[in-house]
Amino acid sequence: MRPGSEQIDDHYVIQTERISKHFGAVRAVRKLSISIPKRGLTSIAGPNGSGKSTLVNLLSGVLPLDGGLVVIDGTSLKVVKAHENPVHGLTRTFQEVRLFDQVTVWNNIMVVLSERRLFPALLERVNPMQRDRARGILESVGLWEKKDALAMNLSYGQRKLLEIGRAMAMEANIYLFDEPFAGLFPEMVEKVKEIMNRMREQGDTIVFISHNMDIVRELSDHLIILDSGSLLEEGAVDDVLSRPKVINAYLGT
Ligand SMILES: Nc1ncnc2c1ncn2[C@@H]1O[C@H](COP(=O)(O)OP(=O)(O)OP(=O)(O)O)[C@@H](O)[C@H]1O
Ligand SMILES: [Mg+2]
Repeated sequence: MRPGSEQIDDHYVIQTERISKHFGAVRAVRKLSISIPKRGLTSIAGPNGSGKSTLVNLLSGVLPLDGGLVVIDGTSLKVVKAHENPVHGLTRTFQEVRLFDQVTVWNNIMVVLSERRLFPALLERVNPMQRDRARGILESVGLWEKKDALAMNLSYGQRKLLEIGRAMAMEANIYLFDEPFAGLFPEMVEKVKEIMNRMREQGDTIVFISHNMDIVRELSDHLIILDSGSLLEEGAVDDVLSRPKVINAYLGT
């Protein structure tokens, strides 16, 4: 932290201050304060039900906060509105992939590029720059050959790649990916790693949830580990993974 800086540090693109979310008696996120560095890759790990998806849902305004504060790029928010995510340059994917199932792979991308309006995309009222961009995205997620397939006919892994492509089409600078690697074949895992590394090189901030500690160790700079909705540890990835608390409580080795 720079000398003289306040609590909110511009080294971080997202910070939370004691944010909470409960579902009835379940306290999914408990007074959680975390910091996500600007640029680079931050991973969020933790056992099933530890609040990882809930945290991403709170950061992206998909769920309302029960308490606390989210600071996104210097703006403090007690209410995070999902429709304002593009204003903050933020986009996200879901653990359960969400696509337009009845339209083609190509149009799933074009819808986003034509400002998320389905009809202009379907009517092909799109400019050549958007077409080039769509092609570039589909090539980078390895789905160019599938561009005319309906989204519903893709394999599970291809659907996840298309969802990542849709996030890329948002042209954000903060990407939140909920379990982008889960259920992917090894070659698809490599593709997603490549995409994330490219985003990092472009100076974007990538946050991803993963259970795979090999991927976490290899890919991320910063690691946040949750346990029962609270912070277990956070910091530089190698540092966090060598802490006894993490080894004992989470990695179990
Ligand atoms: N919409 C909801 N309604 C009720 N309970 C919920 C809801 N979403 C999450 N929960 C509960 O909140 C807790 C945290 O869930 P969350 O999905 O955030 O965990 P997670 O760390 O993402 O788990 P996983 O690794 O299985 O995806 C769990 O006990 C879960 O059952
Ligand atoms: Mg989850």
